[in-house]
Amino acid sequence: VINNIILSLFCVHVGCSVSPEIDARRCVVWGPGLSPDAVLPVRYFYIQSVDSEGHNLSASPAADSFRVKIWSLEKEFVRVHVPAPLDRGDGSLLVRYRLYGSSSKGLKIEVLYQDKPVADSPYTLQGPVYHESCVCPERDPSVWRSALQCPEDEPQIQQDFLSFPSIDLQRLLREVPERFSRRGGLLHYSLVNNQLHRRSLGKYTDFKMFSDEMLLSLARKVKLPDVEFYINVGDWPMENRKAGDEPGPLPIISWCGSTDTRDIILPTYDITHSSLEAMRGVTSDLLSVQGHTGPVWSDKTEKAFFRGRDSREERLRLVAMSKENPELLDAGITAYFFFRDREKDLGKAPLVGFFDFFKYKYQVNVDGTVAAYRFPYLMLGNSLVFKQDSPYYEHFYTHLKAGVHYIPVKRDLSDLLQKIRWAQKNDTQAEAIAKSGQSLVRDLLQPHRLYCYYYSVLQTYADRQSTRPAVHPDMELVPQPSDPSALCDCQRSSEELDPLQKNEL
Ligand SMILES: *[C@@H]1O[C@H](CO)[C@@H](O)[C@H](O)[C@H]1NC(C)=O
Ligand SMILES: *[C@@H]1O[C@H](CO)[C@@H](O)[C@H](O)[C@H]1NC(C)=O
Repeated sequence: VINNIILSLFCVHVGCSVSPEIDARRCVVWGPGLSPDAVLPVRYFYIQSVDSEGHNLSASPAADSFRVKIWSLEKEFVRVHVPAPLDRGDGSLLVRYRLYGSSSKGLKIEVLYQDKPVADSPYTLQGPVYHESCVCPERDPSVWRSALQCPEDEPQIQQDFLSFPSIDLQRLLREVPERFSRRGGLLHYSLVNNQLHRRSLGKYTDFKMFSDEMLLSLARKVKLPDVEFYINVGDWPMENRKAGDEPGPLPIISWCGSTDTRDIILPTYDITHSSLEAMRGVTSDLLSVQGHTGPVWSDKTEKAFFRGRDSREERLRLVAMSKENPELLDAGITAYFFFRDREKDLGKAPLVGFFDFFKYKYQVNVDGTVAAYRFPYLMLGNSLVFKQDSPYYEHFYTHLKAGVHYIPVKRDLSDLLQKIRWAQKNDTQAEAIAKSGQSLVRDLLQPHRLYCYYYSVLQTYADRQSTRPAVHPDMELVPQPSDPSALCDCQRSSEELDPLQKNEL
């Protein structure tokens, strides 16, 4: 606290608002948004500010000192939305833009710092540059994957498919509906010739809008393998048979995995949908959250914070602990549904906007019905995350290490208070763990990596099919949404090269 006061006095006299000298040309600019072939709903790239000696700056530049302009290379009307760059609070910025039409000639991107060109600005994206709703799949998946710089392998995908060396679609057709359709949230998809078909197996399949939108978005960008699969849009993973069991497990695709089920997992509908709808309709997504991480570390309130619904008993326990230890923890339930009788003891807390969570140094992540889908966003903030031990996981957890990227706490939360006290006493380490977690997920949870992940799951699955995928009579075509207002002049051949011809090229 004393340090903070001294620091603020220092700022008043010396003037913290005067940002250190940024050398525009030495700044570093990188990211998929500079490549015409990385077609994404919202394209994005990063700027690292650098001083005249070549040192990366770690404090925010003055507000609005960086500006970005985007226009088409030739006289061609292209609607593009470019909000002001997001300040990531550590000397780096995130630039986002959404194209509402394709550009056949190409785009020019100008990045300016106080009107001086930054790094190699202006950047030229040779056309055609396609927009999100343009149906124009790249025929060669390896070209598409390299444009997105997809990783060679994903450990979670390899692990998920260990139980499924071979996938017999005929067997699935007989057994999957019989075993799982009464669970309600199951969809049967066939992707054949890049066309999506599906039927619902169950009553609670409204969330098909989330699986549909991502599969269609992928199919607009890249030629997908022919593949027939089952997606569970309910909360809980389904398949509890083990690899060696007789009969063996069935490959069900889910958004959340657990240690006692064998489901193949995908990035959750939450981060996927918010990536598709970023900058038009959703406010918190993997990109926007990076520009709203609250005060700098030293100015955050030194307490752990939690707000959420009553979807798990430990959340109520957390609120009780908070009442007894208000100097360590500020926790509240914002809506009761499962434990309504507890409201009279614990009270109901007013809703707090998600970005305001980051006014606090420490965030508590307690499961909901399954994994808490806020975890990715919490990790992207610059707070230290205390994560409840859990059998549930999302697609990227294998990359995270307890104690390195977040602080693990016991499932019953019995060691939480002690660990918060530790963080208060060991502020430097606490900040370092928060930073290393943030830095890892900034890489892993880039929206383009979700596309890589979806593609890899479909490809890995397709490679294991022992019988041919088919469109069944009771399936309906899921059409691509029409976008008559926008130019989409797909210049990629829709003909498949036959393999012989391809070899000769
Ligand atoms: C500066 O930041 C850039 C972009 O993140 C990074 O590639 C580079 O390694 C950093 N340089 C140093 C000296 O940390
Ligand atoms: C944390 O702080 C305590 C008390 O200041 C100190 O004794 C301990 O060594 C610190 N732990 C680490 C890991 O540095």
